[in-house]
Amino acid sequence: MRIFKNLLITGGSGFIGANFIHYLFEKTDFSGNIINVDCLTYAGNPNNLTEIAEKHGNTRYFFFKENVQNYEAIEKIFTQFEIDCLIHFAAESHVDRSIFGPKDFIETNIVGTFNLLEIARKVWGSREDVLFHHISTDEVYGSLGETGFFYENTAYDPRSPYSSSKAASDHLVSAYFHTYKLPVTISNCSNNYGAYQFPEKLIPLMILNILEGKPLPIYGDGKYIRDWLFVDDHCSAIWETVKRGKTGETYNVGGENEWENIKLVNYLCERVAFFTEKDPNEVKKLITYVKDRPGHDRRYAINCDKIKNELNWRQSLDFETGLDETIKWYLNNKEWIENVRSGDYLKWIDKNYTER
Ligand code: NAD
Ligand code: DAU
Repeated sequence: MRIFKNLLITGGSGFIGANFIHYLFEKTDFSGNIINVDCLTYAGNPNNLTEIAEKHGNTRYFFFKENVQNYEAIEKIFTQFEIDCLIHFAAESHVDRSIFGPKDFIETNIVGTFNLLEIARKVWGSREDVLFHHISTDEVYGSLGETGFFYENTAYDPRSPYSSSKAASDHLVSAYFHTYKLPVTISNCSNNYGAYQFPEKLIPLMILNILEGKPLPIYGDGKYIRDWLFVDDHCSAIWETVKRGKTGETYNVGGENEWENIKLVNYLCERVAFFTEKDPNEVKKLITYVKDRPGHDRRYAINCDKIKNELNWRQSLDFETGLDETIKWYLNNKEWIENVRSGDYLKWIDKNYTER
């Protein structure tokens, strides 16, 4: 098992990165330091880590507002903190935004990853007691029909600018392993849900719109399928991979929990109605079919036998429990929501989705 002292987490102020930092401090025996490098785009939110900063700030938790494309700044952090493991979350992550404006996706997801790989290669040299772990997505595998699963050896077939940029970064990470012997691991995960998720993604968007009585936009026929995983379970998969994953290998992570979007949104209507004592049938009237996402992938489904068999990882929560916890989190964190709402994300949605 690998034990690291100084973890560099990129994108630690976003949804999964922040959950991962909470997870490390609150649910593991990790005793080293965490250095979070995040340039705080619209999706990065320091409020996701308020308690961590209060409790561990400048003792075991260090934050740098920095872009992963800035070679000099990150090389300095790497050296100063004697980083022995880099866990790379930072990315532009929203498919719809990548359709409206791919440039940031190329710059952050491809050039940014390349930059980090170059720094790791230079600073670490031929060290074998270090690790570069890349957080990636099942979207690199493309779109499934009614049957079948994505395996680690499924050929890449990305369809959106977002998934193409993630595929390119996966290839670069893999190339640095083969070419320069940089110790790397990659995890490709399905759709996450849970606390701190920016409300442009399906589940938090629907919860917030239900609370505000706004339309619930369903793209196309609503029969698109996603495999949902509670974010803490993604965190435990990442941590197991970092500790015990074989270098040069990819691990698929999924919920084994496929839902059609329309069925999921109907179910969310019922659960939010339950917690807020609304009439579920009235809430469901908010469902509004809208124009489809261009190039919309029909179905994602992950086979995660490898991480289960080799690293003994398991999902811990059933979807119904996880969704209830998530709904309650949004109901109990009004200040967080207000803070996010004061940003410009609504303006972006209003500008690009006139039919809403
Ligand atoms: P997010 O959009 O919530 O957070 C991304 C974070 O990266 C933000 O804090 C943002 O400020 C930061 N960031 C963006 N560009 C940066 C840059 N150039 N320099 C420094 N920081 C930058 O994303 P997320 O949903 O937490 O996803 C995290 C990672 O997990 C991504 O790599 C994504 O591709 C991957 N992933 C996400 C999901 C999912 O369901 N959300 C599933 C599988 C994989
Ligand atoms: O599969 C992993 C990926 O999951 C991650 O790599 C991405 O970072 C993450 O954003 C997510 O991508 P999706 O495109 O699957 O997630 P999103 O929440 O945007 O959409 C989920 C499904 O719901 C998808 O079929 C599109 C549909 N949808 C989405 C929104 C925002 C709607 O029907 N209406 C909506 O308003």
